[in-house]
Amino acid sequence: HDIILIGAPVDSGKRRRGCLMGPDAFRVAGLAEALESLGHRVKDLGNLCPDPVDLPEDPHLFGLPETVGWTAALMRAGKEAAAQGFPVFLGGDHALSMGSVAGVAAHAAEAGRPLFLLWLDAHTDFHTPLTTASGNLHGVSVAYLAGREGFEAFPAMPAPLPMRQVCMIGIRSVDPGEREALRETEVHLYDMRHIDEHGIRAPLAEFLTRVEAANGMLHVSLDVDFLDPAIAPAVGTTVPGGATLREAHLVMEMLCDSGLVTSLDLVELNPFLDERGRTAGVMVDLAASLFGRRIFDRPTRSHA
Ligand code: ARG
Ligand code: MN
Ligand code: MN
Ligand code: MN
Repeated sequence: HDIILIGAPVDSGKRRRGCLMGPDAFRVAGLAEALESLGHRVKDLGNLCPDPVDLPEDPHLFGLPETVGWTAALMRAGKEAAAQGFPVFLGGDHALSMGSVAGVAAHAAEAGRPLFLLWLDAHTDFHTPLTTASGNLHGVSVAYLAGREGFEAFPAMPAPLPMRQVCMIGIRSVDPGEREALRETEVHLYDMRHIDEHGIRAPLAEFLTRVEAANGMLHVSLDVDFLDPAIAPAVGTTVPGGATLREAHLVMEMLCDSGLVTSLDLVELNPFLDERGRTAGVMVDLAASLFGRRIFDRPTRSHA
C-alpha cells in the first residue's frame, strides 16, 4: 500500500487533556518503521491544524468551535488522501472520526462505491449534541456520520452512512439515549456478551462478506478503549472487560486477509496516562497486524 499518515492531535472532544500527544506517541513507538518493514511505502504528512471557525462556544457542549474546525480540516485532508493512497489517521480523540470518515465517505461517493465502517470501541458514540449528557463531542461521531439531527453547527456530512453499513464490535458502555436511538437503526452491533457467546471471528467474518459482496470500501476506527484496560491503560474512558490482545490481533489479521480495508483511525490514545509507552506499542503492533505482520505465512486471498 501507499500509506499516508495524517497526524490529528484532536483534544477538544472531551475534558481530560492528553490526546494531542497521540500522533507523536505513535511516531515514537515506531509506526512508520513497522509499516515500512512490511513492504509498504509510508508518507507522514505531519500534524494537521483545525480550521479557524467563527462560532461561539455552546454552554452545553465542550469545545464545539474547535471540534467543528477539526471536522472541516480532516474532511478535506481525508478526501484528498483517500484518492491518493491508504490514509491512517493518528489521533487524537474520537471526535476526529467525524472528519476522517466524512472525508473518506466523500471520496467513496465520487468513486461510486459504498463505504462501510467498522467501529471497534467500548462505546457506540451515537449521541447527538442534543442527547449527550456529558457534552463531550467524542461521544457523537457515529451519529454525525449517520446524518442524525442536531449537527447544524458542523459542516454537512457529504455522504451520510446508512447504519446497515456500520458494524460495531466490543461494545460494553451505552447510555440510555444511545440505546434507544440505535434500536431504530439497522446497525450490526456485537456487544461483549455476543463475543463471549460466539467469539469475535464469526461476526467479523459475516460483516466482511457483506463488504466484499457490495464491492465496498472499508474504514476501520480503532478506539484504544476497545481493548481491555489491563493491556491498554492509556485512555481516559477505560471500561473493564475489553478485547484481549489475542482477540484484537485476530481482528486485525482477518482484516488484513480480507484485503478490504481502505482507511484507518487510531484514536483515543492519551500518552499522558501510558506506562512507559506500552499502550502506544500495542496500538502499533495492531496496526502492523492489519498491514500484514503475521506469525507464520498462510495462504491469503487478495482483492483487486
Ligand atoms: N457515552 C459517553 C459520553 O457520551 C462516553 C463516550 C466515550 N467516547 C469515546 N470516544 N471514548 O460521554
Ligand atoms: Mn469511541
Ligand atoms: Mn470508546
Ligand atoms: Mn488493498
